[in-house]
Amino acid sequence: MARVNENFLKLKAGYLFPEISRRVSAYTDAEPEKAKKLIRCGIGDVTEPLPLAARSAMKEGVDELGARESFRGYGPEQGYEFLRKAIAENSYHGLGIEAGEIFVSDGSKCDTGNILDIFGDGLKIAITDPVYPVYVDTNVMAGNTGEANEAGQFDGLVYLPCTAENDFTPALPSEPVDLIYLCYPNNPTGTVATKEELQCWVDYARENDAVILYDSAYEAYLQDPELPRSIYEIEGAKECAIEFRSFSKNGGFTGTRCAFIVVPKALTGATESGERIALHGLWARRHSTKFNGVSYPVQRAAEALYSVEGKMQIKKLVEHYMGNAALLKAACEKCHLTVYGGEHSPYVWVKCPEGVDSWGMFDKMLQDAQVVVTPGAGFGAAGEGYFRISAFNTRENVEEVCLRIAQVFG
Ligand code: MLT
Repeated sequence: MARVNENFLKLKAGYLFPEISRRVSAYTDAEPEKAKKLIRCGIGDVTEPLPLAARSAMKEGVDELGARESFRGYGPEQGYEFLRKAIAENSYHGLGIEAGEIFVSDGSKCDTGNILDIFGDGLKIAITDPVYPVYVDTNVMAGNTGEANEAGQFDGLVYLPCTAENDFTPALPSEPVDLIYLCYPNNPTGTVATKEELQCWVDYARENDAVILYDSAYEAYLQDPELPRSIYEIEGAKECAIEFRSFSKNGGFTGTRCAFIVVPKALTGATESGERIALHGLWARRHSTKFNGVSYPVQRAAEALYSVEGKMQIKKLVEHYMGNAALLKAACEKCHLTVYGGEHSPYVWVKCPEGVDSWGMFDKMLQDAQVVVTPGAGFGAAGEGYFRISAFNTRENVEEVCLRIAQVFG
């Protein structure tokens, strides 16, 4: 009998973003005329064209594949040396991360889910709440949780609430945990962590023999040079943290697909009998067994993002989306809505008006303003009472969204 993985049955609703699409499709069927005005500020998907540096490099890469002398078949699973070196030299300049500790992949969503393959069963896992839903759902699929309660919280996970009351800064777990997911700049709240705050996490992880899974997909949006872009800016992090980064949100690669993960060679986990095992070797084995690498032209395109022109073009993209975030934040504030984030992040996290819950706000924005947002509750129980507006859009659309916010709440 082909028995199924029953852990999947614990996942009550669909994955958040497909669920939003389903509701938007239902609205479009019911209100086809109004739906023509829809503006999507739900999923954080980029809208601006791929930087010229990346496009040119990608075209050259394709041409190389078109000539026998420069044709390439399978590449190294962990990524071409040229890209791993560019990442080490640029993204980790002065932080002591070597090219060999970097693994190129097709996305951080996949990486943050797949990383669970190298960890054992029965681990205590800490997750900030609200959170990028992939961390929770992949743990459910892997059998690391029990059932969900009515609020959608899974038995067995250690939830670390991030609310306005604690300034969206999670407290250290009150019990020892083995894995900790952190994401800064934070998705969905748009808040940041200082070096001192991250140092507390690194110290905690080292004292408790825990591993931090640090998602830094939005680091390009940090506006303050004092704020850490990488967990490896923190002393001791190479002994306790894995970092996830992506070219999706800085270089506009959400459709192009390229990301990477850093697994330092000094980082170890333990076997049941207490033997220390390097996680780098386990991930290398996993990656080369289950993955065949990102395509050559795409890796050339990612490398080009580190060129002088590439860096300038990324800066322009980030300025564009941050300009959008500032407009959205100001429009909400003008309507006396309480707003967080949007200063070092492309996400604006808004408190729902009194008496409306987050799916209620999703419906109101859809029906009254034809604007798609993301309900905070979709990111976890502590996200109830908030909604997220993504600043990934054209300027024209964002200006229109601001007008509609004023009409609905002004
Ligand atoms: C989001 O909207 O939270 C992200 O864009 C989703 C993702 O990166 O997978």
